[in-house]
Amino acid sequence: MNILILGSGGREHAIAWKLNQSPKLSKLFIAPGNAGTAKIGKNIPIGVNDFESVKKSVLSESIDMLIVGPEDPLVNGIHDFFLNDPELKNIAVIGPQKAAATLEGSKEFAKEFLFRHNIPTAAYQSFTSDNLIEGYAFLETLKPPYVLKADGLAAGKGVLILNDLQEAKDELKTMLIDAKFGSASATVVIEEFLAGIELSVFVLTDGQGYKVLPTAKDYKRIGEGDTGLNTGGMGAISPVPFVNEEFLEKVHKRIIKPTIEGLNKDQLPYKGFIFIGLIKVGDDPFVIEYNVRLGDPETEVVIPRIKNDLVELFTAVAAGKLNSIELEIDERTATTVMLVSGGYPQAYNKGIEIKGIDQVDEESIVFHAGTQLKEQKILTNGGRVMAITSFGKNFREGLNKSYQNIDKIHFDNMYYRKDLGFDL
Ligand code: AMP
Ligand code: GLY
Repeated sequence: MNILILGSGGREHAIAWKLNQSPKLSKLFIAPGNAGTAKIGKNIPIGVNDFESVKKSVLSESIDMLIVGPEDPLVNGIHDFFLNDPELKNIAVIGPQKAAATLEGSKEFAKEFLFRHNIPTAAYQSFTSDNLIEGYAFLETLKPPYVLKADGLAAGKGVLILNDLQEAKDELKTMLIDAKFGSASATVVIEEFLAGIELSVFVLTDGQGYKVLPTAKDYKRIGEGDTGLNTGGMGAISPVPFVNEEFLEKVHKRIIKPTIEGLNKDQLPYKGFIFIGLIKVGDDPFVIEYNVRLGDPETEVVIPRIKNDLVELFTAVAAGKLNSIELEIDERTATTVMLVSGGYPQAYNKGIEIKGIDQVDEESIVFHAGTQLKEQKILTNGGRVMAITSFGKNFREGLNKSYQNIDKIHFDNMYYRKDLGFDL
């Protein structure tokens, strides 16, 4: 089978790495990919939202399956584009159609879905510029901190958490009237604040059948002790050590099952990953958000723990036969540490040579993210540069192996968090 993966991050390298272990894989393509994916497949230099160019490559390279990494092309309807094209309609696509991808594309849509299907989540109301005054009044009924969310995709930056009522009102106005996040904040969801510990669960579904994949926790802040600006993610751990069977059972019964049933009741076809962001309040799980893809860097710890052949799993998803497969999960803990460019998540330089990757021993896996191959050299090409994944009996052992191997890697202004797991 010939497979094309859309995307260029650590998530896509991890998926490529795993697919490459399957005897069922013939040729692997990644668009646009990075220096890591270039070593195991063929990178195609096209953008993930350039559907016409994706179509050309699918036809010219005889691709049988498309795996969509990031949310953007899903929310823009790439799956529907394939279904509506006579030449593409029989190509398997892993990733939901546009209607279901709206669970990530619109926070208001996701909240309505959660309430309609009685899935635990924070109380909310949504507002537009037409009812700004009602928005102020709703804020006055809440206790601080105040949670304001741009309805649409805002590259992970659209959520504001504010302690001061006046500041919350001012920000609401800036989002609605001054388009702080462009059209993404034309609608704003205001939520009750939930205090607890965050974690994520990942589900793979063919629409009816589903498999619950390992849990993971990521570290979003740039600074040690979870301080400073939000990033895409500075590292991750799987499984989440504070999650026990009893809690997982609650997540299954109260959240995962009603989510799949809700997709069916609402006639939202779904073949792909569901990434459910949760918050554990006391001993109870609440949904913070749905994402319609895998997380990054969570993928770099979740995928290595799956023992099944990934081509087989995806083929079963495409055929609607996921229930016939038994999922096998590695019991060990996987950890990953993200190496980033100095300055990230603000301004940083690109094109810096990375040295020492070949010194990394077999205890760790190097997943490339923002890297680029140029004249045999590996150069930085983004804020998050690479994720170093290791297994251990527990997260400490895994992290130690990653940190030992990171000592062998170097690029100017390299930064990473040395305190992952500090809160566990
Ligand atoms: P989201 O983009 O919806 O995942 O929100 C980004 C981050 O804001 C989450 O990872 C949480 O840390 C925080 N957050 C979102 N909603 C809430 C809430 N209702 N209560 C507390 N924290 C929240
Ligand atoms: N690590 C969070 C995300 O992928 O959205």
